[in-house]
Amino acid sequence: MYKIVKKRELNPTVTLMEIAAPAVAKKAQPGQFIILRVDEKGERIPLTVADYNRESGTVTIIFQIVGATTEKLNHKQEGGFLQDFVGPLGVPTHTEGLKKVAVVGGGVGCAIAYPIAKKLHSEGCEVHSIVGFRSKDLVILEEEFAAASTRLCRRSDDGSWGEKGLVTDALRKLLESGEKYDRVIAIGPLIMMKFVCKLTKEFDIPTTVSMNPIMIDGTGMCGGCRLSLIQEGRRVTKFACVDGPDFDGHEVDFDEAMARGAMYKDFERHAHEETCN
Ligand code: FES
Repeated sequence: MYKIVKKRELNPTVTLMEIAAPAVAKKAQPGQFIILRVDEKGERIPLTVADYNRESGTVTIIFQIVGATTEKLNHKQEGGFLQDFVGPLGVPTHTEGLKKVAVVGGGVGCAIAYPIAKKLHSEGCEVHSIVGFRSKDLVILEEEFAAASTRLCRRSDDGSWGEKGLVTDALRKLLESGEKYDRVIAIGPLIMMKFVCKLTKEFDIPTTVSMNPIMIDGTGMCGGCRLSLIQEGRRVTKFACVDGPDFDGHEVDFDEAMARGAMYKDFERHAHEETCN
């Protein structure tokens, strides 16, 4: 069992938890994820490692309450326990040799983007973070991004925080003003990552995206997390849990990933309703 040592509401639908998991904390790297089960009958859900503390042996996760399991997880309180907490899984984000990077985060994807920005910043890389939310009340990790970035661009859909507009508009503005990046790292909704990649393709900038499809075993056995890359005109199947979650954004078939992501919406809605009633 894994103890919840801290719980904090970041906004009305996003919660941060720090979990005592020394073996995971010892090896975790930015970009990796864990799979947890809330209780012994619970489903397995993947969540990205948002932070870790090797001394205290804790791992931070940040989750959005979107379905039955995250609803159940959110009902757990500080001092409570989780049934399973397995990891770290997946390949860490490659940051070696990068001197100037634009980190683009959308919504709760900022929880994944933040540890990457922090790592790049600690390695002496110039980090331009562009973060976007629907509105001010949904903003998370503003201070953390400010501390981990050389430059921070804030955007919101309704203009209630930072400038009104999309993260892609902010990135275009930077690129058109002559900023040059070794790499763009984009993490957020699939549609956001798709359009960031379309833009960076225009400017010929290598782009990494973090894919977060449905996962079951997290070990490359079930095929649940499969996605397609288009490499030299050929369609290649990859598994996000073992080959990712990071991929070359210019190769990902986002339309297929969005169609697969929508396939289970009715089941998820049904399970969520059962949990809430
Ligand atoms: Fe089963 Fe990736 S989660 S293959």
